[in-house]
Amino acid sequence: MSLNPQLTADGRLQHLLTIEGLPPHILFQILDTAKTFEQVAQQEIKKVPILQGKSIFNLFFEASTRTRTTFEIAAKRLSADVINLNVSASSQSKGETLLDTVDNLCAMQADMFVVRHAESGAAHLIAAHVGPGIHVINAGDGRHAHPTQALLDMYTIRHYKQQFHTLKVAIVGDVLHSRVARSQIHALTTLKVPEVRVIGPKTLIPRHVEQLGVQVFHDMNSGLRDVDVVIMLRLQNERMNGALLPSRDEYFKYYGLTPAKLACAKADAIVMHPGPMNRGVEIDSEVADGVQSVILKQVTFGIAVRMAVMSILAGERGRKPS
Ligand code: CP
Repeated sequence: MSLNPQLTADGRLQHLLTIEGLPPHILFQILDTAKTFEQVAQQEIKKVPILQGKSIFNLFFEASTRTRTTFEIAAKRLSADVINLNVSASSQSKGETLLDTVDNLCAMQADMFVVRHAESGAAHLIAAHVGPGIHVINAGDGRHAHPTQALLDMYTIRHYKQQFHTLKVAIVGDVLHSRVARSQIHALTTLKVPEVRVIGPKTLIPRHVEQLGVQVFHDMNSGLRDVDVVIMLRLQNERMNGALLPSRDEYFKYYGLTPAKLACAKADAIVMHPGPMNRGVEIDSEVADGVQSVILKQVTFGIAVRMAVMSILAGERGRKPS
């Protein structure tokens, strides 16, 4: 039996719950498969029949713009039937448990669940509960993981930089509360990026984060020096207990990405952000909308990457779109 609960005994992806522990060949399989799906967007009819007849349930118990929408677009481009559970109007408000809700959706012949939840471990709980033919994708759980965001970020980096083994990547801001940062660090180190830096105030950097294979900086100018990729993070106020920062103005002064701070990075460095971004807090509009920003390309690439994940989970791995 596989030790990783998201892999089958013979090492195939059964669920996508976290990047941690996934072998590099699975990450490359997803990135390579996504490449084959990029051209579907250029077709007159943006659809391939790969998941025809499959029912995919989007269960978003926490707010989302990019992830929920691009999962829906990706599933529809694969010709699946997509059901978006309206959580606020669901029977959860009458006291139904998460697993009872899932059991009822399984009784409707669900093939796949895409789950976002404020509680870390929610997607794992569902994956451990459902039958063997049903797949679960974690679309963000608490502070824990956001694996498809990290994968689309790796796809974006590979698109602009071609490879991983020479890069210096900086992740800047509220690393402490960020499931995105955690997943990115696991993905970057698995893909053998030689220098991964995290930059932020002491109050927003997790203790012992160096054990994940990253270098810690508290000063932007030195942390950004000569990097190829700058990934900015949002201040996640909804996950902060108490005041961890003097003020937003102060934060922007020291950690907001301005053209002057970006000049410390390589001249061809790309600027990324998973969104939603707070202009004037972690990023200056001049940078967010500037020539080095690839923030909206990340969103577009997210569709092909999510198509790849869903098709691989359904056993259609690497199949070329017809
Ligand atoms: N990056 C991300 O998860 O964005 P949403 O919260 O809008 O899905």
